[in-house]
Amino acid sequence: MDLLWSLLSIACLFLQLEGYTMVLKPNVVVVDVDMTPNTPSQCRNVTLQCGEQDPSVYWQRKKQKIGKGSELTICVEDFPDAGNFTCHNDNGDILNHTLVLIQVTKNDRGEHPKQILQEISDQMYIKCETKNYSGVFECSWNLNVNPNTVQILAEAYRPNSSISCTVHDQDKSRAICHELTYCPFQEEQEKVQVHLYAIDGPRFESYSNQFFLADIVTPEKIPIHKKDEGDKKVIVSWEYPNSWDKPHSYFPLKFEVKVLKNKNNCNHEVRSNQLTCNHKVPYKGSFHCFTEERSLRFNHSTKKYIFCLRAKDMYSDSPWSEWSEIVLRDPGQQCWLKDYYYSLCSLKHHYSLCHVTKTLASPTISTHLLLLA
Ligand SMILES: *[C@@H]1O[C@H](CO)[C@@H](O)[C@H](O)[C@H]1NC(C)=O
Ligand SMILES: *[C@@H]1O[C@H](CO)[C@@H](O)[C@H](O)[C@H]1NC(C)=O
Ligand SMILES: *[C@@H]1O[C@H](CO)[C@@H](O)[C@H](O)[C@H]1NC(C)=O
Ligand SMILES: *[C@@H]1O[C@H](CO)[C@@H](O)[C@H](O)[C@H]1NC(C)=O
Ligand SMILES: *[C@@H]1O[C@H](CO)[C@@H](O)[C@H](O)[C@H]1NC(C)=O
Ligand SMILES: *[C@@H]1O[C@H](CO)[C@@H](O)[C@H](O)[C@H]1NC(C)=O
Repeated sequence: MDLLWSLLSIACLFLQLEGYTMVLKPNVVVVDVDMTPNTPSQCRNVTLQCGEQDPSVYWQRKKQKIGKGSELTICVEDFPDAGNFTCHNDNGDILNHTLVLIQVTKNDRGEHPKQILQEISDQMYIKCETKNYSGVFECSWNLNVNPNTVQILAEAYRPNSSISCTVHDQDKSRAICHELTYCPFQEEQEKVQVHLYAIDGPRFESYSNQFFLADIVTPEKIPIHKKDEGDKKVIVSWEYPNSWDKPHSYFPLKFEVKVLKNKNNCNHEVRSNQLTCNHKVPYKGSFHCFTEERSLRFNHSTKKYIFCLRAKDMYSDSPWSEWSEIVLRDPGQQCWLKDYYYSLCSLKHHYSLCHVTKTLASPTISTHLLLLA
């Protein structure tokens, strides 16, 4: 398998032969076979060349002699007909070999049925994303087969460009690709095409996906900070992720803010119009707004709120980042042990109001708190 791997690792060019066979590399031939049940058997004749013009040359597969002569024509109809064919001289030395693989073009499940990778969504098997406009992107997929035996080759292509892809050694379910000629300041004219070739035993499958990098660019989770300003005011601020492109004025992000009352999950829907965030947001119910700013000021409330924030490229139709969240709660009214220790509770004024009992976890801490009280 190592040899196959190194052969495949070299830039791979398909060569279409008689319409139903393709040469993946000099020693790897892929045969298209229609496996629809109850159709007349389709025997695909495939001729293998040893190279040696010696009539004493013989062929073997699975250690069994199967023919003589420098040329061997085999009939490929189903998986048992595929495999590694070796040709030998009189002494039994291996002179050459051809790995014959099968690509099912049709069966009872339809055209080009897939079983090496799992479908991620409708007809999509490969998911690609990038954190920025550097020309580096990552693709991932889900294997349906044993990762130890499967071979995956990834390649990407864009006209007038050069992209190299490397499949992760151990975890064969992702690849990293780098477009060397990519220019982040230029609009993309053509889509990137990603092709994946998967080999599992005698089975060959190919997969592809295409996209503009601008459509897949997804900022990393946004770091958020909160700062108590005293007088029941809190400022929540955030930053551009380090992995996002600079200058930020040229690569601006747009932020979506949700403040949710009595909810623990940022995915909770807030029904409201698409409002621009107002700095004097009333801190009462839940709300939802959009902004280009990087901070918001709130009045504290006695209730627990979660502040949720995500970002996306302001100008492209690309995905939103994951949500980042932070809990907002008036430390003077109710405090959690964690807050207590990080001095978010203003001990001098509010210790007696803390709902200490709710969160007491360990006896040592409880003693400590009682002493304070
Ligand atoms: C096919 O056989 C050749 C010769 O023995 C060997 O070098 C190669 O690794 C084999 N390929 C596979 C995929 O088993
Ligand atoms: C395959 O080869 C055999 C003889 O070796 C021939 O009878 C048959 O017609 C060929 N099949 C096709 C589809 O060419
Ligand atoms: C070895 O086999 C391959 C695949 O069938 C063939 O293309 C190549 O010409 C052969 N090598 C030589 C030295 O003939
Ligand atoms: C790509 O290169 C070809 C020639 O190599 C040229 O004709 C074509 O205009 C180029 N396309 C783009 C989008 O630059
Ligand atoms: C840019 O994005 C790529 C792909 O997501 C990532 O590997 C790389 O680390 C990012 N660059 C920086 C500077 O973080
Ligand atoms: C915020 O608190 C101040 C008092 O500290 C109050 O004057 C103001 O009306 C409050 N704002 C809102 C939106 O509730």
